[in-house]
Amino acid sequence: MNTILPFKIFEAENSNLPTSIFGGGSSGIRDWDNLKYPTMLDINKNLSAEFWNEDEVKLGKDIEQYNSKLTEAEKYVFNTITGMLNQLDSHATDFNMFLSYMVTDPSIRSNIALINYFENLHNRSYQYLTSTMLNDQQKREAFEEVKRIPVLLERNKLVLDKIQTFLDTVVDYVVNKKQIDNNFLQASFEGLLAYQNLEGLFFTGGFVYFHSLARDQKMMGSNNLICMIKTDEVQHSEFYGTLIRSIMGENPQLNTTENQQYAVYFIKDCVEKEKAWAKYIFKDIETLSMKEYMNYIEYLANLIARNAGIQEPYPENQEIKSRWIVTYGSKKRDKNDSKQIVTRTDFLQTDAINYEHSSGEDYDY
Ligand SMILES: [Fe+2]
Ligand SMILES: [Fe+2]
Repeated sequence: MNTILPFKIFEAENSNLPTSIFGGGSSGIRDWDNLKYPTMLDINKNLSAEFWNEDEVKLGKDIEQYNSKLTEAEKYVFNTITGMLNQLDSHATDFNMFLSYMVTDPSIRSNIALINYFENLHNRSYQYLTSTMLNDQQKREAFEEVKRIPVLLERNKLVLDKIQTFLDTVVDYVVNKKQIDNNFLQASFEGLLAYQNLEGLFFTGGFVYFHSLARDQKMMGSNNLICMIKTDEVQHSEFYGTLIRSIMGENPQLNTTENQQYAVYFIKDCVEKEKAWAKYIFKDIETLSMKEYMNYIEYLANLIARNAGIQEPYPENQEIKSRWIVTYGSKKRDKNDSKQIVTRTDFLQTDAINYEHSSGEDYDY
């Protein structure tokens, strides 16, 4: 494997076809007809098909409802969950930057660049939600609150520690010009798996609160915006799942019983931390039940595992039991229409098992 040298933007002696995801070689020139992983072109097109801007969603009615229909508890949770999502997307952007620097397949770097565009857009969307609904001081408070809640800090620490270890490993290998070895690959595997939980569990779980308000005919505009973000996150989760599977395919030494067990335990640990956070943040919320939330979280954990080629941690939990999460958690064709229209993209999220075994064209809600 190659020594990690300062990033070379152009290496004419290398083929345009990359040799591997980490520690490989390529010229740096993108040729979408000459890919090691042709699915990267599909992913690139699918990501590009979702472009949007936050202020396309009008929040006039939401401002009125925020002030007249939400309870004090509902307002607090709205502010705090928005602040929490904003924090996670902030970290997503920085993780992607470090990951991209290490990836020696240019088509994958292009996809990471595109994903980072969306993470930036998501940050702007949380800004838009809070600055529309709250005054300046309240908005600042919403973004500060997430730094103070112990159960949230503990949940986030589980994935952020692994992500930080990956970033530290990248810096170590670059500064000391080390060879890509099993130590680096292991830190990448654990970092990517942690990131998958951030994307597919901590984010997607947080979105449910907005769906539950919408089910109660409240804050429909905010929920529409959240559903647009959720559609992006589903795509990201699929991309990173593909990346983990491909890295394990290129480096079979990662595909050990220990790593499989590690992954299942890690995902289960994330689920337990998410449940503890949910019990805290939703304790005064009546628009969703804890049982519904717990079921959904376990379903999402299975989805993460399947995407990454890991054994499902909750084999008994195969489908979304609360169908309203599908109805109110799906992106609509008209962003300002209050009627929910389920688009094809959403069924990837709603039932990945069916997706694996059918074309999906006849999937019926
Ligand atoms: Fe995001
Ligand atoms: Fe994302």
